[in-house]
Amino acid sequence: MPDEGQPRDEGRVHGIDAEGIDTDEWNELMRHLEATIPVYDRVNSIVTLGQDSRWRRHVAKSAQPGMKVLEVGCGPGSFAEGLAEVELTCLDPSTAMLAVAKKRVEAARSSRSEPPASYVEATAESLPFEDDSFDRVFCLFSFRDFHDKKKGLKEMLRVLKPGGRLVICDAGKGRFPHGLLGRLWMATVVQLVARRVTKNPDHPWKWLAKTYVHFGTIPFYRKMMRDVGYENVRGRLLLPFLMAGKLTGTKPQ
Ligand SMILES: C[S@@+](CC[C@H](N)C(=O)[O-])C[C@H]1O[C@@H](n2cnc3c(N)ncnc32)[C@H](O)[C@@H]1O
Repeated sequence: MPDEGQPRDEGRVHGIDAEGIDTDEWNELMRHLEATIPVYDRVNSIVTLGQDSRWRRHVAKSAQPGMKVLEVGCGPGSFAEGLAEVELTCLDPSTAMLAVAKKRVEAARSSRSEPPASYVEATAESLPFEDDSFDRVFCLFSFRDFHDKKKGLKEMLRVLKPGGRLVICDAGKGRFPHGLLGRLWMATVVQLVARRVTKNPDHPWKWLAKTYVHFGTIPFYRKMMRDVGYENVRGRLLLPFLMAGKLTGTKPQ
């Protein structure tokens, strides 16, 4: 949890914006994220037209066997369970998410005869690891939820080994009109699907759409990554439907 009352940055507007989410809103967001657990994968698969598992497989290719890998914001383990042949650490601030992830990831790892992963309860903004610890840091569909995005990016850079790479994959937001289309999709299709699957008019995706509305564009985060010290920064929307975006950057040698 972020420190109560701690400002994200001097002179910020409070609430949610492209740079982060203030404490009260973040706590509220976490309650809604935890409420998605039972139907998380099902809703994601429908609203991304089945593309979410393709994106996860694509991103996983960035890790090679034997690497030390950290997933920040592992949620219920949807990405981590498919990360094979790596020394894996799953991190999330939610006890409930980590409990589900552990069950799921360990089942997958033992079916591949791999040793257990590590599970750490913490936030991206305060990573409990030594400098230069990981070859890869992955962040799938969690960067949008960070309390303080610049601080999270700096922490992930700190724990990467020199030459190591950060890979972020999240809901894609290009410049206008792409961002507008994304907002329309979130406000209509996603809401209808979530309502249908959860059978609850007060489903958590109502609140989650807020984080997309305030999420920055890919060019905005490319600049933020360069500003905090990443090299070889790249960012693009993923084909074929441009619904997700991928950002990558490396730690200088
Ligand atoms: C939508 S889930 C993503 C799950 C998974 N990575 C996937 O591939 O679908 C977002 C996760 O980000 C976590 N999260 C929210 N704020 C975070 C922060 N400041 N640092 C790290 N993780 C955070 C949430 O607890 C939640 O489990």
